[in-house]
Amino acid sequence: MRALTQDRYGWDALAVREVPDPVPGTGQVLVRVHAAGVNPYDWHFAEGQPLVARPTMGGLRGPRPPVRGADLAGVVVGTGPDVTAFAPGDEVFGFGSGGTFAELALAAEDALAHRPAELTPVEAAAVPMAGVTALQHLREAALAAGQRIAITGAGGGIGHLAVQIAAARGARVTGVCSAGNAELVRELGAAETVDYAREDFTAGRRRFDVVLANAGRYPVRALGRVVVPGGLVLVNDGSKEGLLGPLPDLLSAPLVSRFSPYRVRNVTATSSGADLAVLAGLVTDGVLRPVVSATYPLDQAVEAVRQVAGHGHARGKLVVTPA
Ligand SMILES: NC(=O)c1ccc[n+]([C@@H]2O[C@H](COP(=O)([O-])OP(=O)(O)OC[C@H]3O[C@@H](n4cnc5c(N)ncnc54)[C@H](OP(=O)(O)O)[C@@H]3O)[C@@H](O)[C@H]2O)c1
Repeated sequence: MRALTQDRYGWDALAVREVPDPVPGTGQVLVRVHAAGVNPYDWHFAEGQPLVARPTMGGLRGPRPPVRGADLAGVVVGTGPDVTAFAPGDEVFGFGSGGTFAELALAAEDALAHRPAELTPVEAAAVPMAGVTALQHLREAALAAGQRIAITGAGGGIGHLAVQIAAARGARVTGVCSAGNAELVRELGAAETVDYAREDFTAGRRRFDVVLANAGRYPVRALGRVVVPGGLVLVNDGSKEGLLGPLPDLLSAPLVSRFSPYRVRNVTATSSGADLAVLAGLVTDGVLRPVVSATYPLDQAVEAVRQVAGHGHARGKLVVTPA
């Protein structure tokens, strides 16, 4: 099969190559990939950023597995031993294991869900990582009707889904995004938007019960200034590069929490099939609508990953279409 692979870190190492077809092991499903969502996660692995995380990416010289891509939507074409929830012919979406910018991909049975009929494969491929991350952060926030939440990166992958979920829970959403995404973010349910190029919302007078920081590289203390006492800062901006990347912010969260009038949390999203099913339910209920701003054939997948590298400016989601 054809797949976007790399044998070392760096953009020039990425190329579409012929690799052996994957074979499903125990508990694994083989999927013909119709569409694969693009995430900053793919950039981290492509470049090996932040440097300190390289050992967790599979190796110091190059990432393992070598195929890029984490999200997928497609059709089941095979199953390994002990798979009971899926059978060949099922339309699925979820998290691949071993790379999804490829014609075929493996996925653990519990990292998949049935694709809701309301979504095309391209739309469904936009949901897994961004949707589960949004859902799990908002669950941590235990957001209630009437509460005020600020979401930075509101026009991006996680942000545009978080805006919809928070608004559906009755929260008053302030979306922090570029002027170009403001109309979209309001359409998706934000009560107001702040153009980060014109206004630093952490220096303003608005106060929030929760801040979900997906982008902007705001210092945690600045975010803390705009939450009410007892409020919650969710640090989810992994865009810092260099040796340590966002690690200092993430590691210092418990300490800052202890000595501040607000709480700071970071949620590491888990590839939960159960949460994919929750998201599918929100789609069916008309609460959630993924926005895909562009699709890329496999041969141009590197371009798609470059769009979300560092402080990218993706509108909604970008999706690769391998087949
Ligand atoms: N905790 C976890 O397990 C987990 C999981 C997945 C991702 N993440 C992290 O979550 C972050 C967001 O991911 P994503 O998929 O949503 O990325 P994305 O799709 O690239 O979206 C980022 C958005 O931020 C906006 N943006 C750029 N600069 C900004 C600024 N200064 N202020 C406010 N918005 C700005 C961009 O568009 P405009 O500038 O045009 O508005 C874009 O819409 C990443 O850093 C990623 O590493 C964490």
